[in-house]
Amino acid sequence: MQYEIEDYYRQGGESGRLSDGAGRWEFLRTWDLLQRTLPAGPLAVLDVGGATGVYAGPLASQGHRVHVVDPMPEHVAAAAALPGVTAAVGDARALTEPDAAYDAVLLLGPLYHLVARADRIAAWRGAARAVRPGGVVAAATISRFASLLDGYARGYLADEVFARMLERTLATGEHRNLGTDRHWFTTAYFHRPDEPAAEAAEAGLDFVRSAAVEGPLWMLPALDEVLAEPGRTEQALALMRQVEGEPHLWGASSHLLTVARRPA
Ligand SMILES: C[S@@+](CC[C@H](N)C(=O)[O-])C[C@H]1O[C@@H](n2cnc3c(N)ncnc32)[C@H](O)[C@@H]1O
Repeated sequence: MQYEIEDYYRQGGESGRLSDGAGRWEFLRTWDLLQRTLPAGPLAVLDVGGATGVYAGPLASQGHRVHVVDPMPEHVAAAAALPGVTAAVGDARALTEPDAAYDAVLLLGPLYHLVARADRIAAWRGAARAVRPGGVVAAATISRFASLLDGYARGYLADEVFARMLERTLATGEHRNLGTDRHWFTTAYFHRPDEPAAEAAEAGLDFVRSAAVEGPLWMLPALDEVLAEPGRTEQALALMRQVEGEPHLWGASSHLLTVARRPA
């Protein structure tokens, strides 16, 4: 993993990132999608880039056997402390898991930190090898347009350094934080919505579906108010379920979840 990505995660923050606002919405929607994507369990789940176990913990609570692989030793230690979760340091491009050992593999992080396409294909291939024939791979990517939308929604575009970064991201998908603001994230690749399906296919997987994770609702100024009320949260979740598969919305969603299957 590149130095600046390590440095970014070493500052901490992953354990609390999904606790409020757009992060909470990302969690609720990713969880909702996973619950409808994973087959009935108990399953053996490999969570690559699983960080501190934000999904591994709840999945283990449901009775699944979850193994986290992440390059950050600090993340691995936190994940391994969760009941029912095992964890090891490793890289998505060079998984050492046995072949066909898992019912499902999650790639919720590695693909957007791998700027070179060949590296992303290696990560997809590793997942395709570790999952059993017929098993699912679920992968998160960040939208090519997330920086533009974030820049407007949070006012970052007033900074000319951010504006320069954005130009490059829009043109190439490569995101490099040339400033000092941690909210501007770290080195990443921001996918066009049609790219993840093509990458999965190149790695030998059968594409199943892509779905908007947050949809455009992550930009809502009153998002915390919605999430504070169970009725409004449920309404937002129901509406997103209705439109998550609509390709015309995908680019406005901060994250896209792509599901693929290893051929039986
Ligand atoms: C933004 S966090 C996402 C964590 C969690 N899976 C989630 O969806 O909230 C990205 C994670 O990917 C991990 N990561 C970065 N590069 C990776 C790589 N090459 N292989 C595996 N994991 C990687 C980071 O250490 C970090 O834990």
